[in-house]
Amino acid sequence: MAENSVAIIPGSFDPLTNGHVDVIQRALRIFDTVIVSVLSNSSKDCLFSVEERLRLIRDSFREEQSRVQVKTFTGLLADFARREGARVIVRGLRAVSDYDYEVQMALMNRSLNDELETVFLVTRKRNSFISSSLVKQVAALGGDVSSMVPPLVGQALQSRFDKEKKK
Ligand code: PNS
Repeated sequence: MAENSVAIIPGSFDPLTNGHVDVIQRALRIFDTVIVSVLSNSSKDCLFSVEERLRLIRDSFREEQSRVQVKTFTGLLADFARREGARVIVRGLRAVSDYDYEVQMALMNRSLNDELETVFLVTRKRNSFISSSLVKQVAALGGDVSSMVPPLVGQALQSRFDKEKKK
């Protein structure tokens, strides 16, 4: 492995889940630095603002802050990776249903930036059913998501939906 290897872990992270945390932690075993890269996309309907998502990720990885950078990006991921000097994108694979979309993205990113490789890490079985969208749905309906997200994210979801109930 080259010295100071850098990998980008991109996503919407709306919000960070234990599935993301697992992929980030396992990427840290392979790469020196990971850049958790939050897509800032005004057209996508997100529950949390980019600033809130960045803060939740930073606070959840406070103890690893020397190796986990948390940044936002707009535009093409392939261009962002070039600007950051990263040649590897890490994505988590939960199930076969993720495969087609993920391979399509990997091929598209490589066609846009020939130096870019995508590495897939298969999530732990216990996280394989967790997605940000399902977590939001369950939390909005009052379900317990405490085993699916970091504690800070659980608190943020609770206060967001408590506020909405009071409206
Ligand atoms: O967590 P998500 O929503 O599955 O992440 C998707 C993400 C952010 C990785 C993807 O939408 C992305 O890279 N968007 C940036 C725009 C881009 O580069 N598109 C072309 C390559 S597919």
